[in-house]
Amino acid sequence: MRQSLFRPAVTMLVLGLSTTSVRALQNSTTIAASALGLIPLPRHVTAYKATWQVPATIRVSTANPAERRAGRVLLRFLKSRGIIVTFATSGTAQIRLSTTANDRQLGAEGYRLKISNHVASLSANTGRGLFYALQTFEQLFNPAKPSDNAIHEVSITDWPRYRWRGILLDCSRHFFPVPVVEKFIRIAAHYKLNVFHWHLTDDQGWRIEIPQYPLLTKIGAWRAGTEMHGDPKDINHQRYGGFYTDNEIRQIVHYARRRYVTVVPEIDIPGHCTAALAAYPWLAAAKGPFQVRETWGISNVPLNPSARTFRFLDTVFGDLVALFPGKYIHLGGDEVSLKAMGVWAHDPAAEKLMRQHHWSAEQLHDYFPATMARFLASKGRRSEVWNDVPAIGLPKGTAVECWDSSSIVRKDASLGHDVIVADESNLYLNFCQGDPKYERYPVGSVDTLRDVYAFNPSSLLPKPLRPELLGTEACLWSEAIPTAHHLFYQLLPREMALAEISWTPKKDQHYSDFVQRTARQYLWLRANHYNFRIPPPSFHFTDNGGPFTGTRDPSHNAMNIQCALPAAVIRMTDPVPGTVIYYTLNGLIPGTKSTRYTGPIHVQCMPGKPVVIRSVATCTFGQSSPPSKLLVQWNIHR
Ligand code: ACM
Repeated sequence: MRQSLFRPAVTMLVLGLSTTSVRALQNSTTIAASALGLIPLPRHVTAYKATWQVPATIRVSTANPAERRAGRVLLRFLKSRGIIVTFATSGTAQIRLSTTANDRQLGAEGYRLKISNHVASLSANTGRGLFYALQTFEQLFNPAKPSDNAIHEVSITDWPRYRWRGILLDCSRHFFPVPVVEKFIRIAAHYKLNVFHWHLTDDQGWRIEIPQYPLLTKIGAWRAGTEMHGDPKDINHQRYGGFYTDNEIRQIVHYARRRYVTVVPEIDIPGHCTAALAAYPWLAAAKGPFQVRETWGISNVPLNPSARTFRFLDTVFGDLVALFPGKYIHLGGDEVSLKAMGVWAHDPAAEKLMRQHHWSAEQLHDYFPATMARFLASKGRRSEVWNDVPAIGLPKGTAVECWDSSSIVRKDASLGHDVIVADESNLYLNFCQGDPKYERYPVGSVDTLRDVYAFNPSSLLPKPLRPELLGTEACLWSEAIPTAHHLFYQLLPREMALAEISWTPKKDQHYSDFVQRTARQYLWLRANHYNFRIPPPSFHFTDNGGPFTGTRDPSHNAMNIQCALPAAVIRMTDPVPGTVIYYTLNGLIPGTKSTRYTGPIHVQCMPGKPVVIRSVATCTFGQSSPPSKLLVQWNIHR
């Protein structure tokens, strides 16, 4: 199930002391790499104390079309910093862009970035690598102060952990207009993600214009109401919908392409099709009429496998091939329930096929994506399917996207298919980021920033099968995401963690170091008008009685600690620069009239009487974090 109401996670984590991780060796001329605030953390970084004051007019060299393309990106960025760019030959340029690094180690996406002696050289084997060099270069500038153009000298060599670094946006359950989709793609590229998986159709709405089947958008793109809070009886009864025209799709594909993001469109078959069935009931394996779903639940009526249905699918996927230039097209295939498969037994076309070929319903399920995968292969494309598809009849080169358990990942890889890990427990960013009590639209289990960061997609496959792992992807299903504001709240800051687990080698991933680096990124988000969730303040605790013990509850908004002595010292921090922390000691949720945190709090505990500290972090512009809670207990027996 994609969405359910809050399901409590059962883990109780032992509170870990934060590890300090500083990558670069420090000496008198270097500084810690983490001070640069780069996300994702590059593979090899040496950061120097020395800074380069980028001059107000600067010469940039480019010598081929890919370099010129990067030059235009750089020009726009430097213009936003008040810097004027002129193009020059490489000998006299202060910023040198090169796609002729000829360096096998860098591969297709890696780069080198060196800043020293008033010259920046950015080099890669490809335009894509050069684009990533530029993303890193841009992150060196102070995001909060466009007039401050002093950047640290650095020497960086970098390439990604995974080839596939994806993010899914569901535009069926809620529709997001073109500027929002572009904003979504822009930040994905900023964090070096390279796949935008665009979920375009589902039971709740069909979002792509197919000229030969106009009712798909005339009827299928609109519903009479919307369930908002996980209760199918709670519907708002407002007509809702929208779709993308051919031209809008082309615009988005172009926008993404300029940022080296591949768009993978998904038309979900043979289940999740109610919006199409509402438009053309003859596609269904049961008798209509059908209505575009207002509620979140999954339909139990799949497509029928008639020749007419496959002519329809050829047209739809043919249009996709024409509109989307990327290698992969997603065929869906998820969540065809047993009940839906049962419907096939009563559909003449389905029944005939199953009888003729002695197929089970599962094999018929496979038949839809297998047939369309062959169609796509004939057009030079590859297919992607969700792991629910048995995948036996799928051509080699199909990618299986695993949202389910690790055993399924193993099975798909061992069938010889490429695998993309989109693990529901760790990478569904529509799920709560903390205690559901304090989230506006709480769905799913709790998946904190730390949880996303701790997830290791490679660990799901045994070593011999890891070459088949293309990479990883996070999903934003939008049943409970009605606005762009909330979309970015769900996405950020967790997309930063996704970016880092996708790009940075596992051995270099350290959560406390990452959190430290997010501080600079929050400034970037604010400067670029991205909404984000302010994390609740963290507590740091000493009681002079040696190591403390404690538990973090599953929501990670709360901690219980046991101290050995009656006196304890509590510090609070929040990674977002400029936030003010307020707290209470009376159990109430703090507001801006509560006590302002200005330094360590000394608490005295009585036996059997815990002290409860509740805190929130508030930004100058009024937005607050969800509250966090610390319960301190004096344990005489410790
Ligand atoms: C899925 O969550 N059904 C892909």
